[in-house]
Amino acid sequence: MLDQYAEPLSGIDRYAVVGNPIAHSKSPLIHTEFAKQTHQNISYERVLAPLDGFEATIRDLMQQGFKGVNVTVPFKFEAYALCDYHTEQAKLAGAVNTIKFTEHGIWGNNTDGDGLIADITHNLNTLIEGKRVLLLGAGGAAEGVFQPLLVQKPAKLVVANRTLDKAENMVSKSLDKTSQVTACTFEDLKNQQFDIVINATSAGLSDMALPVPSSVFAKNCLAYDMMYGRETPFMQQARASGAQVADGLGMLVEQAAEAFNYWRGVRPETKSVMNIVSAL
Ligand code: ATR
Repeated sequence: MLDQYAEPLSGIDRYAVVGNPIAHSKSPLIHTEFAKQTHQNISYERVLAPLDGFEATIRDLMQQGFKGVNVTVPFKFEAYALCDYHTEQAKLAGAVNTIKFTEHGIWGNNTDGDGLIADITHNLNTLIEGKRVLLLGAGGAAEGVFQPLLVQKPAKLVVANRTLDKAENMVSKSLDKTSQVTACTFEDLKNQQFDIVINATSAGLSDMALPVPSSVFAKNCLAYDMMYGRETPFMQQARASGAQVADGLGMLVEQAAEAFNYWRGVRPETKSVMNIVSAL
């Protein structure tokens, strides 16, 4: 399935994003901008995989000579299982969002965590080291950023989730012994304050507010919603509580830049591409 950004001419290295749904993915635009900027001769397509046909889709793209693919919802765990080799980042996340086809087999990487960290530390100028960090959610999105956040050595990392045992399970896999890492429910957040609050739940998709007390936002807090393209109830609450608020657009572009670098060996500049995507 080709789209306006694809140029399937011979001599061009082909890439794609595979998901379901996929029609609204901004990845083709982002990677096409990266390619222009770095003078790389690539095409980038959207591919809709049937919910029960992810592996067949990937093997077909490999047969067609694609060089790599990005993987998005709901296939990141299946992608992990399908890969022959995994980078450290993929192993830490237990999920794959970037695949590279090589003559020796299929490599899986995960650039979501590095994308979030790059956005918070570089674009938003916020150091994570030594900070009190709250991660809301314990699903796939939270899992992808949990260990990379710990690598930054926050003073403490609290994972709060509606379903407590999922948060406890995630925290039990912590590889870091420097930070204090705990799991709790939203109710347990009373009387706790944080310098960085990250919403990795999918509640915003259905415009649902989270039962998080507004007192969690400490003075000068950064409130980050990994969702992009809409002002979620979480963002509204954080803004009303005086926090600095960011959505996940920067993470989207930064994770793409990491993927581009993994495939092409050159890391594109992201600021101008963030401006293009946010103006859409
Ligand atoms: P994703 O891949 O987007 O992370 P997921 O793995 O289904 O999707 O995880 C969704 C996360 O959002 C979970 O942490 C979920 O909480 P539960 O583990 O209790 O299900 C959370 N979530 C979704 N809707 C929510 C809501 N209305 N209130 C609170 N948490 C919600």
